[in-house]
Amino acid sequence: MSTSELTSEQVALKEALPSSVSLSTEDCLASAKELKGKVVVVTGAGAGFGRSYSLLAASHGAKVVASDIKLETVEGLVQEIKKAGGEAIATHCNTADWDSQVAMFRLAINTYGFIDSVVVNAGVTEAPGWLDDKEGPDGEPVKPPSMTTDVNLIGASYTTRLAFYHLQKNPSTGLKSLVLLGSMSSFFGIPLAPMYSMSKHAMMGLFRSLYYSAQPIGINVNIVCPWFVATGILDTGALLAVAGLPLATVDNVVSGIFKASSDPNYNGYILAIDASGVLSISHDAFFLGDGGYYRAFLSRAAFTISTIKTIKDVVAAIRVARRPSPQKTAIKAVGIAALAWGVYGAGGIGEFTIPGLVARGAAAAALLVI
Ligand SMILES: NC(=O)c1ccc[n+]([C@@H]2O[C@H](COP(=O)([O-])OP(=O)(O)OC[C@H]3O[C@@H](n4cnc5c(N)ncnc54)[C@H](O)[C@@H]3O)[C@@H](O)[C@H]2O)c1
Repeated sequence: MSTSELTSEQVALKEALPSSVSLSTEDCLASAKELKGKVVVVTGAGAGFGRSYSLLAASHGAKVVASDIKLETVEGLVQEIKKAGGEAIATHCNTADWDSQVAMFRLAINTYGFIDSVVVNAGVTEAPGWLDDKEGPDGEPVKPPSMTTDVNLIGASYTTRLAFYHLQKNPSTGLKSLVLLGSMSSFFGIPLAPMYSMSKHAMMGLFRSLYYSAQPIGINVNIVCPWFVATGILDTGALLAVAGLPLATVDNVVSGIFKASSDPNYNGYILAIDASGVLSISHDAFFLGDGGYYRAFLSRAAFTISTIKTIKDVVAAIRVARRPSPQKTAIKAVGIAALAWGVYGAGGIGEFTIPGLVARGAAAAALLVI
């Protein structure tokens, strides 16, 4: 989409967001070859965006772990992928349940060894009743339903946590990506949908915070924020509310998810997708002024995170090096012998000959490392 086709409001938005750029479908699919052979985990893959993205990723050679609370939907999807020559497995997963997600990720690892990309997609609409004035027998307000936050907030945070854990275990230095599903309601509140709006704002916060922790470990984190799209998630009320308005398309949303999951150089972006197409906005586009002390705080935090990571890596490497093994015991014995020879043989106690010093130094270094 060219700038001339944008409405004046969209042009104003673009100008207010200097770090934003429109992406065409070709832009979004440009790194498709990067997904070949990669293992992609998708939650809520049985319908809507998750299903279409899974088909597209598999058609470009990704191995798809398709999970959904409705097993039969992902079983059908996997059959379709396999029929087209692709590779995928189907599994039940209720994202609101931690153990269910642990089992889903374990199946992915047991089947394919490692995972390379995770699309945190499963989501539900606003559960009715949160705004009701209903009172219980005790005359107090009844406990509100929690389905929306259970899935869209807690469930999404579980998927993200497990994704982060397993992506770090992947020794590859290539593409690793985490794609969060936000919404236009990550920016504004949908009237009568407070829990949905809260959960999608929460995804934006998760994205913005996690971005800093993901940098030192090479995981790309991006968030896809679609305007309304006619999928199964829109109930009658939502369909009536948007009747006659331009909607975003499944194809554009899936292109955005694809870009975020496949492009190794695409990191820290919000993909705002509405009826005009895909707009890519840098995570720091909303900083006040040029950042000022906000930016100073964030760089300080980023430095601390990467320093902690380096210290953890060094400690882990020392732990591995110090783990006992027959070879190390043998090297230790040789080191002790060399040390003894350096002290008592080549030099004699208190005497510092060159061969004696070299033998003592080398033996001490070997013993320290082991
Ligand atoms: N369609 C839209 O207008 C729109 C707009 C913005 C954001 N989104 C977000 O996009 C994501 C996908 O939505 P969609 O439009 O494809 O919806 P959809 O209803 O078509 O598909 C959602 C899928 O998630 C599955 N699911 C629901 N609860 C689950 C659970 N607890 N565990 C595992 N799977 C579960 C459903 O069975 C379904 O297959 C959601 O996070 C949604 O909030 C959708």
